[in-house]
Amino acid sequence: MINYKKEIAELICKNVEGLTLEEIMSMVEVPTDTKMGDYAFPCFKLAKTLRKAPPAIAQDIAEKLGGEAAFAKVESVNAYVNMFLTRKGFMEDVVKEAVSEQDNYGRSDLGKDKTVIVEFSSPNIAKPFHIGHIRSTVIGNSIYKIYDFLGYDTVRINHLGDYGTQFGKMIVAYRRWGNKEDVIKSPIKTLLEYYTKFHVEVETDPSLDDEARAVFTKLENGSPEEVELWQWFRDESLKEFNRVYNMLGISFDSYAGESFYSDKMDRVVEWMKDKNLMQESEGAQIVDLEPYGMSPALITKKDGSTLYITRDIAASVYRKEHYNFYKNLYIVASQQNLHFQQWFKIVELMGCEWAKDCVHIPFGLVSLEEGTMSTRHGRVVFLEDVLNRAVEQTKAVIKEKNVATDNVDETAQMVGIGAVIFQELSNNRIKDYVFSWDKVLNFEGETGPYVQYTHARAISVLRKAGEEAVKKASEVQKLDMSHVTSDSAYDLAKLIYQFPQVIEEAGDKYEPSVVTRHIVDIAQSFNRFYHNEYILVEDEAEKLAKLALVIAAKNTIKNGLFLLGIQAPEKM
Ligand code: ARG
Repeated sequence: MINYKKEIAELICKNVEGLTLEEIMSMVEVPTDTKMGDYAFPCFKLAKTLRKAPPAIAQDIAEKLGGEAAFAKVESVNAYVNMFLTRKGFMEDVVKEAVSEQDNYGRSDLGKDKTVIVEFSSPNIAKPFHIGHIRSTVIGNSIYKIYDFLGYDTVRINHLGDYGTQFGKMIVAYRRWGNKEDVIKSPIKTLLEYYTKFHVEVETDPSLDDEARAVFTKLENGSPEEVELWQWFRDESLKEFNRVYNMLGISFDSYAGESFYSDKMDRVVEWMKDKNLMQESEGAQIVDLEPYGMSPALITKKDGSTLYITRDIAASVYRKEHYNFYKNLYIVASQQNLHFQQWFKIVELMGCEWAKDCVHIPFGLVSLEEGTMSTRHGRVVFLEDVLNRAVEQTKAVIKEKNVATDNVDETAQMVGIGAVIFQELSNNRIKDYVFSWDKVLNFEGETGPYVQYTHARAISVLRKAGEEAVKKASEVQKLDMSHVTSDSAYDLAKLIYQFPQVIEEAGDKYEPSVVTRHIVDIAQSFNRFYHNEYILVEDEAEKLAKLALVIAAKNTIKNGLFLLGIQAPEKM
């Protein structure tokens, strides 16, 4: 597809003295008000070199550009040159590409031969996967998809919280009060109960703590009985997590969690010592980060045991050596900002030039609307419950609205779960937001169901047109858009045109909401086109051109939803 901005910059360059192509590129604007043209060029900066008033310069340039075939109209307004593209050519170019590329429309090879690690989700074993965790999972999955689409080699890592003294406690609790069948039936809930009971009992029986510490040491030293129990807790928990990941359609390339690094920490601890980074403080080893305005980082405790941060340092070294990443991304809540700043600094001080390629991608908190959710598990909200409830409520809406579908259950799955994901990815990730059922499942607002519905509507138009017509419309070599250049058709084509750049922007900013907002725009624009114009008109050429535009819009919406991790039902 033609890069129109560049093309225009070249035309301006040909007609204006004293500016390089790059300078012109950076000056060309896309006006928010379409009445000011598709592109505009401000002439203020030229006054000095050309010794002329900016409005006169604009008028000059406008006259010169007016003769170019690329433009339908060029105007000078104040000191701007406003350029209107020739719609027919532009629309043919865009629609051709979006129709023929299908599921690949927007894909690029920008990231060829570069590996990006996307670490996300990373729940803690035997702890519930609550609504706060959904953010990392959903945002991370989308960032992975965006990078993959941009041509990077991607590795999805789930850095499970499967290590630490709490496992000593859990083993002690299980041995005292545990029951195998209960754990198998509902692992996370049951293990959490044991863990909670431990904390109650230890109040009156402090010896439990010593016992737990001893058990953890055994676990660390590889004692078979302890390792077996730990492994079992981990497996059972993972089964439960996987149930949720399956609902969301998410998978990982690696589940190397914290325990994976248990034998890789000595080396980095020695490394830090060699670099003179370590100081002793009451028997513990710390790295003083005062010069960088941060509190000290505790690396090993008095008893020699390592910490969360030690494992993160070891993990990043391992990832660099194993994957040779171009970027190593961490999608983790903003509460952990300090943690990441501390250890990124430490890795830098260790002399790793790749420290700069590690990126913490934080996100804000989710809170629940008053009365939104009381789950059978009490205060803790399980993600699975949220998803199930979304599906149930969607089913009710589908029945109530008489939504056209062949399979209510399947559609309710796609729409209900898509709705939760969409809401997650609607706002800038850093913003705190309130989870609201009304907003999630609204078919009319800027929601997942609305966008999915628009996609299904496009397909229903194509169904009505019939296979033969759709086939003809897809033969893009013959595409002739001369009859489909109305404002609503043109606006839609412009949004479709922007889609590939939008994906790049979302990748640069690590911000899936850029894609979310864009497909809402496309859906709204499509619906305007749909309401303003008859699509299945008598005139064959006009009909085929309109159908091609419908196909282009449908492909773009589908790919946008795909990048968010949302399915696009064909009927609803
Ligand atoms: N398991 C941690 C938690 O639930 C998140 C891990 C984040 N990733 C990391 N590499 N520190 O809080």
